Amino acid sequence: MDTFEAFFTRQSLGEVKPDPVPVPLIEKLLSAAVQAPNHYKVRPWRFIVLTGAGREKMGEALAHSFAERFPQAPASALEKERAKPLRAPLIIAVGVDKPSGPKVDEVENICAAAAAVENLLLAAQALGLAAKWRTGEDARNPRLKAFLGFAPEQRLIALVYIGYPVVEAGKVERPGFEDRVVWME
Ligand SMILES: Cc1cc2nc3c(=O)[nH]c(=O)nc-3n(C[C@H](O)[C@H](O)[C@H](O)COP(=O)(O)O)c2cc1C
Repeated sequence: MDTFEAFFTRQSLGEVKPDPVPVPLIEKLLSAAVQAPNHYKVRPWRFIVLTGAGREKMGEALAHSFAERFPQAPASALEKERAKPLRAPLIIAVGVDKPSGPKVDEVENICAAAAAVENLLLAAQALGLAAKWRTGEDARNPRLKAFLGFAPEQRLIALVYIGYPVVEAGKVERPGFEDRVVWME
């Protein structure tokens, strides 16, 4: 797929088939992700790949955390948390390293990791996969971060849910750039 076709057809698709994504494709996604620019070449991105039972363990971590925060929560609410990671056969969690030296800036590390996520989304699009970048409360959940192996000071910036699309992605209509641009000549 041409780069521009990937830009214009990429869209967040949350509904995917349960079929597993083959490991060589997952490796292609990760390989595309790490082509992103990063200042001082610190490669601040960290990827946790969850498939199969890994997603069930993630669901346990979410349910456990929910029960801790809401001790009165009904079983149905816990079940909902447990089932969240099962929405896709593959989840790639993306964490960011804290700056490793005085010159390295935290925002720049986050920007680099976000660029890696976008590469990953576009690669998924090019490979005929559907993907959705999710964050929400889960991305700020200390128990989930610990489950994924991230230190408290590391940011979890994306939980990318990936699978084969249920519906084919068509061209997406989005607002143009005109009202967001000032030309200085
Ligand atoms: C940093 C970031 C976090 C996001 N978190 C969520 C999320 O938690 N839940 C969700 O439904 N979509 C999330 N999205 C996806 C956006 O909602 C989506 O990109 C937006 O609706 C535009 O749709 P499109 O991606 O199809 O263009 C997130 C996107 C970004 C960039």
